[in-house]
Amino acid sequence: MALEIRSATCDYAAGSAMASRALEAVSLTVECGDLVVVLGPTGSGKTTLLRAAAGIVPLTSGSVEADGAPVMDPASARGSVGLLFQRPEAQFFALTVEDDCAFGPRNLGRSEADARADADAALSSVGLDPAEFGPREPWSLSGGEARRVALAGVLAMRPRYLLLDEPTAGLDAVGCDAVRDVVDAVRASAGVLVVTHDPERFLPRASAVLVLSHGAVAFRGTVSEFLGALPGLVAAGLAEAPDVPRALLLAAAKGARLSGELTLDTSAAARMLAAACSGTDGGAR
Ligand SMILES: Nc1ncnc2c1ncn2[C@@H]1O[C@H](COP(=O)(O)OP(=O)(O)OP(=O)(O)O)[C@@H](O)[C@H]1O
Ligand SMILES: [Mg+2]
Repeated sequence: MALEIRSATCDYAAGSAMASRALEAVSLTVECGDLVVVLGPTGSGKTTLLRAAAGIVPLTSGSVEADGAPVMDPASARGSVGLLFQRPEAQFFALTVEDDCAFGPRNLGRSEADARADADAALSSVGLDPAEFGPREPWSLSGGEARRVALAGVLAMRPRYLLLDEPTAGLDAVGCDAVRDVVDAVRASAGVLVVTHDPERFLPRASAVLVLSHGAVAFRGTVSEFLGALPGLVAAGLAEAPDVPRALLLAAAKGARLSGELTLDTSAAARMLAAACSGTDGGAR
């Protein structure tokens, strides 16, 4: 049981003078419980990878299957993959929040009562009271509320694979934490693929990291392998260092002799910096 992306290659405007390759032979497996973090510079193909994984852009070659069913086949893979678009709040269309969130489950053939129950449960799971927010008009929401409603609309379908395209962009710290908590909860019953420019929020709990460059996989590995490769990825302009390892890299660049590997853990980093400082200043005290 997995979302299997096999050698996915994707061209926009294929066959025309404007043809451009956005994804080049990318393979990836996402299983239930996984959190795969996808990083890469702007234009590197992250959104295209998620669209391909959701079956909404055609592949030039390769395949994507959810639990053995091709995602391009709506009859077999229906509802198994849920995609939260980059800037999803631009896509509200119902007159109320509850109707917008109930649309997905209703469209999957669930009864009206079940669709509304799924919508309400999803709104609660993103920290919004269905009684208060359900009757609201989507365009009356604040940016952070709108993002959470959009996430609820995807969660209401109860997808087995949840694809999130920059879900924390533009949110305040509370909103970002709410998204992180939802991701943690969803992993009990789904696999999650998240594209983010906010790696510190998701990396500590990630099961794998993928870095794209010009549509191809430039790095794939565990979080600790990613931290090991980070100096090279940063130098190549393929990844931005999260705050904690960035502080360590800056200290090392200034001559601090660090005793351990790069880490995301604030306390461990503080101990490394303190040790480096006491080593430097040891004779001065
Ligand atoms: N509909 C489209 N038609 C033509 N080219 C496109 C289309 N969508 C994306 N592209 C191109 O495909 C490449 C990959 O785009 P994509 O949106 O996947 O990048 P991204 O990594 O998500 O970038 P960002 O971090 O800015 O969101 C880019 O060169 C982009 O210009
Ligand atoms: Mg994108």
